[in-house]
Amino acid sequence: MKTPKIAKTRAELKAAIAEANPGSLGFVPTMGALHSGHGSLFKAAREENEVVVISVFVNELQFNDATDYANYPRQLEADVQLAAEAGVDIVFAPEAEEIYHAGLPLVRLNSGALGDMYEGASRPGHFDGMLAVVAKLLHLADPRQGQYRAYFGQKDAQQLALIRRMVADLDYPVQLRSVPIVRSEKGLALSSRNALLSEEEKEAALVLHRSIQLIAGRAARNEPLYVEDAIGMCQMAPLVELDYFVVVNPDTLQELAFNCQDTPFTGEGLILVAAKVGKVRLIDNQPI
Ligand code: PAF
Repeated sequence: MKTPKIAKTRAELKAAIAEANPGSLGFVPTMGALHSGHGSLFKAAREENEVVVISVFVNELQFNDATDYANYPRQLEADVQLAAEAGVDIVFAPEAEEIYHAGLPLVRLNSGALGDMYEGASRPGHFDGMLAVVAKLLHLADPRQGQYRAYFGQKDAQQLALIRRMVADLDYPVQLRSVPIVRSEKGLALSSRNALLSEEEKEAALVLHRSIQLIAGRAARNEPLYVEDAIGMCQMAPLVELDYFVVVNPDTLQELAFNCQDTPFTGEGLILVAAKVGKVRLIDNQPI
């Protein structure tokens, strides 16, 4: 097992990439606290690139709650170990001053209507802050030659939709790859936040996946979806406070007003669900 090179500054990252001189580079931005969900992103990147670069950076700008930011797990040593096991070549682990070297950015990206709904509605400013750092990181890891690919998990479906728009709208020279959700044996979507759940809450959280499966099964059989059954299931579950359960257009995230109620389901959609389980906010989704 090879130890990845650690780059703390943008100059070190640039030098490490230049030294590797890759014909293809796969980049996976993360906020650390790595788990096997991230592992699947690293694996996807490893499979089709000569060099794999990951970043570990907890981005203050995408937290709208200072306590949440302060408490976000930071465990670089363990992260580097997992990265090494996954065959990552370079870990970019900058301090905030390195990323926001000119102070917090004055000029920001606006995630627009796509960033205001669902997760954006309950976390104002989150997506603008997320785009601010992803825009920078995509520049910093750009090999400037050969193939450049970046990997994101499908679990953060709204994040992925926004990054897709940013890359298209601003002509970033990077190919985006999305990697399916990794679940626990019982079906809970893996997330760094799961560590904050008690055993009882973990059991309760399974209703998110069960309710998704109910609707996905109906979609697969081209039946009417009757989404209110899934909403009812989540609302009745103990310890669960449902925020939303919707079926949307996968690109625009606009709710599918019909084609999912009392008529047979055809075409494509994306089920999105978010709920608080105890004090922890969880999201899950599934394309149908
Ligand atoms: O999904 C995440 O971990 C973060 O939002 C990202 C993309 C690394 C930006 O900070």
